[in-house]
Amino acid sequence: MSLPKVLGCHLILMLSSFTGAANGYYEYMWSRCIYSNRDFSDMVYIDNYSFNKDVDVQFNSTVGYYVGYTEPGVHYAQLWNNDTIGLQQERAEVERVCKPNAELYYTAHLIGKAVPPKVKLSSVTQAGGRHPAMLMCSAYRFYPRWITVSWMRDGKVVKSDVTSTEEMPNGDWYYQIHSHLEYTPKSGEKISCAVDHAGLTKPIIIDWDPSLPESERNKIAIGASGLVLGIIIAAAGLIYYKKKSSGRILVPS
Ligand SMILES: *[C@@H]1O[C@H](CO)[C@@H](O)[C@H](O)[C@H]1NC(C)=O
Ligand SMILES: *[C@@H]1O[C@H](CO)[C@@H](O)[C@H](O)[C@H]1NC(C)=O
Repeated sequence: MSLPKVLGCHLILMLSSFTGAANGYYEYMWSRCIYSNRDFSDMVYIDNYSFNKDVDVQFNSTVGYYVGYTEPGVHYAQLWNNDTIGLQQERAEVERVCKPNAELYYTAHLIGKAVPPKVKLSSVTQAGGRHPAMLMCSAYRFYPRWITVSWMRDGKVVKSDVTSTEEMPNGDWYYQIHSHLEYTPKSGEKISCAVDHAGLTKPIIIDWDPSLPESERNKIAIGASGLVLGIIIAAAGLIYYKKKSSGRILVPS
């Protein structure tokens, strides 16, 4: 299952500006590395040159060359695109600058800070009949937000009939996520939820036990504790009765 991740401007690597303050002109450039996947496979490098609010010329690593948007911008784009070596360097920025810095950023957020999730697997009661059934795998209180929640049926990863929320911030630095699996129960099949996170040394895998819905399990637990309590009371009563009756024998008549 692939989770959609919110695109973020994770790095502002360079910000240089030169203003003609007296006239209120503002010419500036910025470079950004934009990505959303942890493996940086979707990394895009943008090198942007603007005058006041307008973008003059921009390099986008997906495009691979400068594109001008204004008259002077088009001129600069032609000039810079003619510079083969300069263009090669610009194209290499994704590997040279973006990925190493994103890796640094990521580890800085991880070292000593990763908090593994608590995982719960439960069934969701659906309105109108029992089939298909719905299971919910919830991961709570984890940091940072990058997490993988997947479903397995007899050890094989299930891709269809899976819906998931995004990683939701709790507002206290922790995140939670909820993934749902819709399925038609079959006897003898094993359904599991697997959660992987930077705070874990190995994924948490929880198997679903279809024979016991949650309410039933609670009933059995209560029943069992009631039985234990009953045995204790009975034993106490027996001991008390034995003591009393043996005491009675000792009293001479
Ligand atoms: C970079 O170019 C690609 C391809 O044209 C485009 O899909 C993407 O939105 C551009 N990125 C930015 C930040 O402009
Ligand atoms: C770019 O190079 C081409 C051919 O190499 C040349 O015709 C053109 O004038 C150059 N453009 C600029 C803006 O230098």
